[in-house]
Amino acid sequence: MVPTMGALHDGHVSLVAEARKHADHVVVSIFVNPTQFAPHEDFDAYPRTLDADMARLGDTADIVFAPNAREMYPDGYATTVTVAGPAHGLETDFRPHFFAGVATVVAKLLIAASPDVAVFGEKDYQQLLVVKQLARDLALPTDIVGAPTLREADGLAMSSRNAYLAPQERAVAGRLNLVLKDVIASARSGSLREAEAAGIEALYKAGFDHVDYVAIRDAATLDHVAALEHPARLLAAARIGKTRLIDNMSI
Ligand code: PAF
Repeated sequence: MVPTMGALHDGHVSLVAEARKHADHVVVSIFVNPTQFAPHEDFDAYPRTLDADMARLGDTADIVFAPNAREMYPDGYATTVTVAGPAHGLETDFRPHFFAGVATVVAKLLIAASPDVAVFGEKDYQQLLVVKQLARDLALPTDIVGAPTLREADGLAMSSRNAYLAPQERAVAGRLNLVLKDVIASARSGSLREAEAAGIEALYKAGFDHVDYVAIRDAATLDHVAALEHPARLLAAARIGKTRLIDNMSI
């Protein structure tokens, strides 16, 4: 299974190709999940392109499950799944509602489809760890597989939200991955906290309006790390105009 919110791009297509390596039959879900958006966020504006999505999937998906909100959350719906552990901090500091919405809908989708394997993009690295935790803790019979981030020619991580960017903003957005590479280089040769602080400053200089975080964390738990002794992950979130971008890289 490949759970998505639609507005499919090449990154999603690569997730479907990854799923096909593990399975004879692939289900793609397309559902813009209201419970993972706060009231002030972009739920209404989120692109809904079901016909184009179906055309893009062609016969790469055996089943497309595109429920409406009433099917997923009928009147009287009252259950929320919350995950602690890797859901703590980072995205949660800025989008406190987010992982409860994701965990709830992913639990419902995985229970409904009961797939052997579900593929999630590393682009949403914290989400990937949260979903792994969810599947482990609820003993869901599904292996959660992470697939690498696909990038545009200038290194911008592919995301449905890139469509919001005006041309000038798109040029700024392309700097995010370059700043992250610089942060990794400084972290390897000096203080992790100084590397993070330099990354935040570089993003403001590049034209981002607000930097939510640039953080080096343990790659498996997202715990704080003082040194690069175990596999680590650099994660960042920053806003340009109304668009919020996230990215991450392994260290
Ligand atoms: O990554 C996404 O597109 C969504 O968060 C997901 C996993 C489909 C849940 O709505």
